[in-house]
Formats: sequence, C-alpha cells, structure tokens
Amino acid sequence: MGLLDGKVAIVTGAGRGLGRGEALELAAEGAGVVVGEVDEAAGQSVVDEITATGGSAVLYLGDCSEIEHGQGIVRTAVEQLGRLDALVNNAGILRDRTLAKMTPEEWDAVIKVHLRGHYAPTHAAINHWRDNDQPGRVVCTASTSGVLGNFGQSNYGAAKAGIAAFAQIVAQENWKKGITVNAICPAARTRMTEGAYGEKLAGGSAEEGFDFWHPDNVAPFVAFLCSDASSHISGKVFGVQGDTVELYRPFTSEAFIQKGGAKWTAEELVERVGELFESTGIAPEAQNGMARLRFSMTQRS
Ligand SMILES: NC(=O)c1ccc[n+]([C@@H]2O[C@H](COP(=O)([O-])OP(=O)(O)OC[C@H]3O[C@@H](n4cnc5c(N)ncnc54)[C@H](O)[C@@H]3O)[C@@H](O)[C@H]2O)c1
Repeated sequence: MGLLDGKVAIVTGAGRGLGRGEALELAAEGAGVVVGEVDEAAGQSVVDEITATGGSAVLYLGDCSEIEHGQGIVRTAVEQLGRLDALVNNAGILRDRTLAKMTPEEWDAVIKVHLRGHYAPTHAAINHWRDNDQPGRVVCTASTSGVLGNFGQSNYGAAKAGIAAFAQIVAQENWKKGITVNAICPAARTRMTEGAYGEKLAGGSAEEGFDFWHPDNVAPFVAFLCSDASSHISGKVFGVQGDTVELYRPFTSEAFIQKGGAKWTAEELVERVGELFESTGIAPEAQNGMARLRFSMTQRS
C-alpha cells in the first residue's frame, strides 16, 4: 500500500534534480505521474524510470509558464491517467546577477518561469477541481532566497517570495473546496546549485551513510503534502532539506509604536523609530537554523 495509491499527480520540471526525485517518489507511493519538462530527453528518462518499475507516467513537453501548457498538462493527466489529485509546481531557473548589472531579460526570464510557471498550471488545476467538486493538492516551490534573501538573486528571490505569498493566498481562496496549497523551500545538490555552492553540497561519504544534500531527500515531504494525510494543512511554507523539515512563520508584526491618535511628523520618527528595534531584541545575525545555514553557505564578498 502506498500513500498515493490510485492518485494522479503532475510535477513540472521533473526531468532532473528535485523534480525528478519528487516524480519518482510520488510514483513509488502509487501515483500516476505526468512529467512536465521543457527538456525532452530529461523528461523521457524519468518517464522510462517510472514505467520500468511498473509505475505509470507520461511526458508533457513544453514551457510551464505558458497558459496553454497549464491547460494542456491538466488535460493530459485527466485524459491519459484518468484523473488529477495533485500538482507540484517545481520547474525553475536561475539568472544570478547583482541588481546593478541585471539585464531586463534576466529579470523577466526568472519572473516568468517561476511566477507564471506557478500561475498557469495552478489556475488550470484549481479550476478543474472546482468544476468537478473535487479536493486537490498544490505544492509550490519557493526558496530561502525569497523568504530570507540571498546575494545576487533579486530576480529569483522576488519570484520565490512571491510564490510563498501565492501559496498562502490561493490556499485562502480554496480551503472551503478542500483544495490545499502549500510551499516548500528546498535545499539540495542539483544542476541549479552546483555552480553557486560547489563543494559545500558534496555528497556524504559511504561511512557517513546519509547524503544530506541529495535532492531525493526533499521528495517524501512533497509526497506527504500530495496525500490525503495532509488535508488539514494549507497556506503554509516549509523549509525542507536533508533530514530536516521546518515550518516557517509568515511575515508578522514584531513591534509597533503609536503617536496616540495623531499623525507622525518625520522628525518625530527620527527620534522614536529605534524603539521598534530595541523592544524586539532583534539581533543583527540570522534568526533560525535555515538562515544560519544560508549565512554559512553564502559567505561571499
Ligand atoms: N536545488 C536547490 O537547492 C533549490 C533551493 C531552493 C529552491 N529550489 C527550486 O527547486 C526547483 C527545482 O530546482 P532544481 O535545483 O531541481 O533545478 P534543476 O535545474 O536541477 O532542475 C530544474 C528542471 O526544471 C526544468 N525547467 C526549467 N524551466 C522550465 C520550464 N519553463 N518549463 C518546464 N520545465 C522547466 C529544467 O529543464 C530542469 O529539468 C526550482 O523551482 C528551484 O528554484 C531549488
């Protein structure tokens, strides 16, 4: 018995890295999988891996940020695998550059693949579930680069913070329909991170036993979020890496100052705004485990 027996899921960008691990895990838990990819050879190899072990999978080729692609991938799940239960929005790209040097093309490409790449398949899946009065699961892929920040990634971080907000809002809009929407902030050794972090994400030795940065470590939590067992969890953002699952606190108010029923002057704020920081005790360094980790991984000049 698998956690996802009889279910069907879509994974975008499933040809390599995290998406590949997620597609294989969902299939191992019993789901039929639509492998969404822009790279045909990579996508087909994952379909072949799943079918070789007796699972069912189909490839849907194209750019997930195109509206027709979103509609087409949902239609493919229903027509070729019989239904749709879960959508994992995973596909993504990097175009790292400090903002001063970033071209409009680098900005637009990242925003499009991530934000429209979440909007297009989610819009089609949500409408499919709402039209058929069915529950559904959406897993979005945000990043610590968005929720904590990362040097050289203003385009990517803005998109990823937007995805965290997207998940919370689409969850609010659809919870009464039994549709859950959550986001993960993964971290793993993939083609995407090899360039930036290199040896810091090296595989663990055989003696160490556990390869902390292996991308497949993220997949079991994604399978859980795609299952009936997570029907009570929605609008949440999780950090997932190695053996760790974290629950993020959303942007929230830490402290406030008030004038007492009157408008502030700018000069008064110069005097008083420090109280916001003094009362919180916010330390200048990173605040939690993931942020500390990011600090150590991103010590760059
Ligand atoms: N690897 C990490 O540590 C890490 C950290 C935070 C977030 N993420 C996010 O996880 C997701 C997967 O990243 P990864 O590290 O596995 O990257 P990857 O480059 O190894 O794999 C991404 C896959 O997505 C596909 N893809 C790219 N654009 C596409 C598009 N428009 N339509 C369809 N497919 C497309 C690529 O062909 C590729 O196979 C991304 O959203 C990434 O931003 C990764």
